[in-house]
Amino acid sequence: MSIRFSAPCHFGLEKVLRFEVTRIGGTDITVQDGRVNWSGDWDTLARANINLSVAERVQILLNEFKAETFEELFQGMYQAPLEQFIGKEDAFPVKGHSVNSTLHSIPACQKILKKAAVKRLQKAYHLNSFLPETGSLHQLQFTILKNQVSIYLDTSGEGLHKRGYRRNSNLAPIRETLAAGILDLGRLRSNTLVCDPFCGSGTFLIESARRACQIASGLDRRFQAEQWECVPDSAWRSARSEALDRIDRNVEFEGWGWDIDPEAVRLTMENAKKAGVEKFLHIEQRDIRDFHPVTDAVTFCNPPYGERMLEQREAQQIYRIMGKVLTAPLHVICGDPDFERCFGKKADKRRKLYNGMISCQLYSYLK
Ligand SMILES: C[S@@+](CC[C@H](N)C(=O)[O-])C[C@H]1O[C@@H](n2cnc3c(N)ncnc32)[C@H](O)[C@@H]1O
Repeated sequence: MSIRFSAPCHFGLEKVLRFEVTRIGGTDITVQDGRVNWSGDWDTLARANINLSVAERVQILLNEFKAETFEELFQGMYQAPLEQFIGKEDAFPVKGHSVNSTLHSIPACQKILKKAAVKRLQKAYHLNSFLPETGSLHQLQFTILKNQVSIYLDTSGEGLHKRGYRRNSNLAPIRETLAAGILDLGRLRSNTLVCDPFCGSGTFLIESARRACQIASGLDRRFQAEQWECVPDSAWRSARSEALDRIDRNVEFEGWGWDIDPEAVRLTMENAKKAGVEKFLHIEQRDIRDFHPVTDAVTFCNPPYGERMLEQREAQQIYRIMGKVLTAPLHVICGDPDFERCFGKKADKRRKLYNGMISCQLYSYLK
């Protein structure tokens, strides 16, 4: 059975995700802003969830259509082949969002879409009564953008940035999916030496160590579609065993991390241990003022960016120090439009990225 898949990603990482989708065997790949679509089968579904490092989740694309009326919205969901994935007893809540569209009331859209899904499944299972919805979760998701509707079925459950190694922290960590994408844009290799002078919870270092050892990003966690009856267990088993076979811990990789906050140092080591890569990392408490470059290392970091005036001034002082002590190759993600001026040098390459809702640039200094 050929299935159409879709994965959202951070804006700016579509090309990175496209490449990852090719590597897991996706075919007929198409790219749009913040999303990549492809065709595949159950094996592709398991491989995608386990291996895609920059996708936010993996969804099945059930239908795409235009709707300006509730009747069109109803018909679009009613045409979707829901019974191929959702069993007679399964739960199928609906959620989503609408942007710049005639149908803008989310509760009203949810209600209509749910009604259409119930009707389709009642017909498919020859039932007149209510569906029990006591089985496994099949989260239906919709997006309406300029009256163009897409209906998805989520297969991941928790977002794929949750790798299973990071404890929640209040240190403004960068998302694992965004960090993985930045490492890719910075052309990280398995023998690259990596530094992060603002390591926080250690995301850049842990993601790079795991990448160097070829540890698949989702190997330590479970996915919603593992509970679905329609997906054969063999798909998950073989995707996990392929991923395990690829792991190589005899790599030259080394990572150095520093942070002014002793709690960050402790947290990075705790997370690295959970992620199985602590032996590759050297972490110490250190102020950026005392930074000493590591020969041949590439630096990846997201320094603090203050949102209030005082914080912003302090953050800009840090960028000035960075300009004095850090050397290329260096990749900095920062939300302050004045970063380059404070740093004292124009970047060789600039890419627009979003860190959550904050519009940022990835400043790459290459020489
Ligand atoms: C935005 S966070 C980095 C988050 C990190 N990338 C992660 O994924 O967890 C910025 C970090 O810079 C650290 N920091 C602030 N001022 C510093 C300084 N003067 N020297 C070194 N680290 C500093 C903070 O303690 C914080 O952990």
